[in-house]
Amino acid sequence: MEKERMLRASELLARMKAPMVGGDGKEEETKQGFTYYYGKCPVHGRYLRDVVGNGTSRHFAHRCPECERVRREKEAWGRSGIPARFQGKTFHSYVASTPEERAAKAAAEAYARTLEERLPKGDSLILYGAPGTGKTHLACAIGREAMRLGKSVLYATFDEIVRNIRSTWGGKGSEREELAKLTSVDLLIIDEAGGVDDAGTKRILFSVVNERYQSLRSIVLVTNANMEALRQATGDRCFSRLCEMARSVPFFWEGRRGNRVPSAVSPRGAEWR
Ligand SMILES: Nc1ncnc2c1ncn2[C@@H]1O[C@H](COP(=O)(O)OP(=O)(O)OP(=O)(O)O)[C@@H](O)[C@H]1O
Ligand SMILES: [Mg+2]
Ligand SMILES: [Zn+2]
Repeated sequence: MEKERMLRASELLARMKAPMVGGDGKEEETKQGFTYYYGKCPVHGRYLRDVVGNGTSRHFAHRCPECERVRREKEAWGRSGIPARFQGKTFHSYVASTPEERAAKAAAEAYARTLEERLPKGDSLILYGAPGTGKTHLACAIGREAMRLGKSVLYATFDEIVRNIRSTWGGKGSEREELAKLTSVDLLIIDEAGGVDDAGTKRILFSVVNERYQSLRSIVLVTNANMEALRQATGDRCFSRLCEMARSVPFFWEGRRGNRVPSAVSPRGAEWR
């Protein structure tokens, strides 16, 4: 009896695969003793809701799964804290025209491609170098890929992290909770790291890096400092943990922001009317 039920379940699963693709717009159809009930999404077309037959029933979805996926992705972007300017940045939009740019892009892309195996091990990346060279761009492209895989991502500048943790010292919220937020995500992007000038701030950075180090959680760290400056800025204990977790990618070339002064608005501001 049990075996028969198992057999029926696996047969059901096998049969259900076919009607999920394509579709002729019908709301229900019966095939080989099973009735397939469909929902209809105005954007994505029909989707399988339930399959009933042979004394079994199986529920698949009560809303369009594609709409649900889009909604979940939107929420993930909201939670990620990735700034609006960088939400549209992708590997595709990163132009690599020199060997150095190509190497940096390839390293970031290889990391993103292997996130499934890297994130559980805490494998990390340090993107370091000159302003305007696309470090934040590539870090956010990695974040985008992680979210596409359903991973949780949090982007924060180092200053934001310090400010949020310091704000708990006055009794608002707890430092533990604030640290837990930074530790619990699958991927933490720390941007603008460096310039750690006092013991309190150093301790915060150490706590964040150490918590993630201990729990095998990845960091993408972005900084203008070179490796020696980063070691000095973060302290030996923090830096040695980062070295064990991370590979580093240098970005030392002329940045793309350029030194152009902002173009002038004409006196009557005609172009803004
Ligand atoms: N190779 C590139 N291809 C396309 N866009 C690029 C490239 N390099 C930089 N950019 C663009 O230039 C701008 C500056 O890049 P980004 O902010 O990522 O630089 P950064 O290295 O993080 O600089 P900083 O260290 O000052 O924060 C962004 O709009 C980014 O998309
Ligand atoms: Mg940046
Ligand atoms: Zn839909």
